[in-house]
Amino acid sequence: MRVGMHRECHASLRHDAATQLQLGRRVALIGHFLKTPRRLLPLVHEGLVDEVMRQLMSGKEAVVYVVRCGDDVRCAKVYKEANRRSFRQAALYQEGRKVKNSRQARAMAKGTRYGRQAQEEAWQNVEVDTLYRLATAGVRVPRAYGFFQGVVLMELVTDAEGNAAPRLNDVELTEAQALHYHGILMQEVVRMLCAGVIHGDLSEYNVLVGSDGPVIIDLPQAVDVAGNNNAASMLQRDVENITTYFSRFAPTLASTQYGKEIWALLQGGLLHPDMKLTGHFRSEVRSADVGAVMLEITAAQDDEDARQRFRAQLG
Ligand SMILES: Nc1ncnc2c1ncn2[C@@H]1O[C@H](COP(=O)(O)OP(=O)(O)O)[C@@H](O)[C@H]1O
Ligand SMILES: [Mg+2]
Repeated sequence: MRVGMHRECHASLRHDAATQLQLGRRVALIGHFLKTPRRLLPLVHEGLVDEVMRQLMSGKEAVVYVVRCGDDVRCAKVYKEANRRSFRQAALYQEGRKVKNSRQARAMAKGTRYGRQAQEEAWQNVEVDTLYRLATAGVRVPRAYGFFQGVVLMELVTDAEGNAAPRLNDVELTEAQALHYHGILMQEVVRMLCAGVIHGDLSEYNVLVGSDGPVIIDLPQAVDVAGNNNAASMLQRDVENITTYFSRFAPTLASTQYGKEIWALLQGGLLHPDMKLTGHFRSEVRSADVGAVMLEITAAQDDEDARQRFRAQLG
């Protein structure tokens, strides 16, 4: 009898332990979902993200999280909803952007609900499209892993220790390092331009210092060179922001004129991705057939769009 009770007792203990374990797992699961930021839940449900590890940064227009996707640590950029964003003169940036169809274009112009939604989607798509386009053009940007319900999944840029990389603004540089990084970034600006893109918000806050050098981020406001009348001034501003920042460490940069040089080369049809810049601007650089250059850029862009569509079809 005593033995029997003993056994029963053991069995119920085992039963209790199993229930506890199950309960524990359920609580952990619920906790996991409760802790998961609402905007990332669809990605967790879809299996695109396995775990949200932590919030990395809450910026002007987005919140960035460190996430685990299988064995990889990546980051997820969640755009703030339109009304929480500072829409920084959206019209200025959107000029010349392609819209999928004329119904969308009309709705966007009228500002209907469908139109606003289409505009919001178009805005969010720009960053991931631009990331793919720039990577193809050989610009060092985070590798993109897709866009889902207002969230871009991308490579987490890291420093030599594997931690999230600091922004340019967060690091101290020697004069030699500043000159070196500045040279790299001017080259990147040229590469972007050859791919038909101007960043539009380039500064020490939107460049990370990764283990392999500077990495350009934050591209939802990227500007199409072709068809945007503000392209010249935006390029000038991007180049000036970067140059002014580096001239703190390398004062000789303050008197350079990379922006004007680059624009004149583009207008003269002389710009190519790997060209050596001087930082000097001679007004006699031929500012010839701008129309032809624009046509070429548009054609290159159309080719690239077709490639992207083809790739998307391949899945
Ligand atoms: N791919 C990335 N790898 C590492 N950190 C990133 C990455 N993307 C963004 N961050 C961090 O998140 C911050 C905000 O991202 P950003 O794209 O600049 O958006 P915002 O428009 O809010 O400024 C950045 O300053 C950077 O610190
Ligand atoms: Mg930013």
